[in-house]
Amino acid sequence: MTAARPLAVIVLAAGQGTRMQSPLPKVLHPIAGRTMLAHVLAAAAALSPDRVVVVTRPDAEAIGKATAPARLAVQAEQLGTGHAVMAARKELEGFHGDALVLYADTPLLTAETLRRILAARDGGASVAVLGFRPADPAAYGRLVLAHDGSLQKIVEAKDATSAERKIDFCNSGVLAADARTLFDDLLPRVGTNNAKKEYYLTDVIQIAVAHKLRCAAVEGAAAEVLGVNSQDELAVAEAAFQRRARAAHMAAGVTLSDPATVYFAADTEIGPGTSVGQNVVFGPGVSVAGGVTIKPFCHLEGVRIARGAIIGPFARLRPGSEIGEDVHIGNFVETKAAKIDRGAKANHLTYLGDVTIGAEANIGAGTITCNYDGFFKYQTEIGAGAFIGSNSALVAPVSVGANANIGAGSVITRNVAADALAIERSPQVEKPGWAAKFRTLMRARKAKKD
Ligand code: UD1
Ligand code: CA
Repeated sequence: MTAARPLAVIVLAAGQGTRMQSPLPKVLHPIAGRTMLAHVLAAAAALSPDRVVVVTRPDAEAIGKATAPARLAVQAEQLGTGHAVMAARKELEGFHGDALVLYADTPLLTAETLRRILAARDGGASVAVLGFRPADPAAYGRLVLAHDGSLQKIVEAKDATSAERKIDFCNSGVLAADARTLFDDLLPRVGTNNAKKEYYLTDVIQIAVAHKLRCAAVEGAAAEVLGVNSQDELAVAEAAFQRRARAAHMAAGVTLSDPATVYFAADTEIGPGTSVGQNVVFGPGVSVAGGVTIKPFCHLEGVRIARGAIIGPFARLRPGSEIGEDVHIGNFVETKAAKIDRGAKANHLTYLGDVTIGAEANIGAGTITCNYDGFFKYQTEIGAGAFIGSNSALVAPVSVGANANIGAGSVITRNVAADALAIERSPQVEKPGWAAKFRTLMRARKAKKD
């Protein structure tokens, strides 16, 4: 059992990332609304490690903020992957157990694959490495196996002989070893006598083998070890993540009418029996119960939706919204920090911001909660069973009592008592026969002109 040994995870995030052409540090670019670094930290967290150390550049404050509660180790100069792991040494003082090295720019790794590498350690390998067979081995390090299938060395493409370059089994970068062996026996022996004049982490394999330690390579899926070095590869990783998310949600009982058009965030939660129509986008922080219907063309972010709700088409649910059981939110309705209780309906053309809406209330077409005066935000309260007539403006702060009615077209600026009718519009004036007389007069004038 892997649980028997303490585990420390070391995440390398000190690389330059220049090919992203972006002011944002590479590993803080998001995939499915979560930074690449956070994806890797989440996969690591699933292994319940005793310590997590993120290795960054000295100037990467933003990365430091994103790593908490992981420890941070600064690699003063970027002298190679071996040097980067060595930078974590101080944070692992007194640690005895396994060290697992991950790259922060490899966001699609799963915890299951990481467990397989740790299992290879259990199987007696002093160092275990995750290998894969990419479509194009190109610049990857090659895994050289001995006759018995054990790993003999890793040779970087730039240092490889033409025979070695023909090997299609490549190094993903993920490596597990006993921490004390790695830091005290192997890494200190790594030099820079290679094409890049860098301290290669990969050299620890040859050093271990020379010390009669057995090394193993575990094969993983190429799709999982996809590294991101450019905006193009970021988009490829995003697409791969979305395919995986769609499959996972469908396997968990969610119906997707056209999976390829639905986009999930890494933290999207949806219960079984919910159906999601075409062209729906989930931003971060969405949790949907089972038995919900989300119709096409909706955008959801930071919202909780309870059982039986019907959303859309064309609804936009923004952060802080809580949609109760059996609530209906229809087309061109926007909610923001709207707490909407059981069975309430807002079916058309409405803005509901900073509002609580009681059970079974009916919000008419064109209702606007006027929650902002250019400086501050204010709250609107709508009681249970209230009926808000179409095209009403509720100027917050304001409350509408339970079962009250608001006449259509009203601008409500004062609180309305329960069961009352509030109506705010000019009295209707009617002039009998006026239109007929007007037409007769105008037709005559027009005839004269012609
Ligand atoms: C590395 C491996 C190669 C493997 C490939 C997989 C070595 C010597 N080579 O090559 O075998 O096939 O990854 O993608 O290990 N980093 C630091 N500090 C440094 C250098 C790198 O933190 O000084 C970090 C980077 O941020 C990145 C990771 O280490 O997360 C890999 O670095 P990179 O320079 O991309 O390694 P490769 O040359 O691609
Ligand atoms: Ca790389």
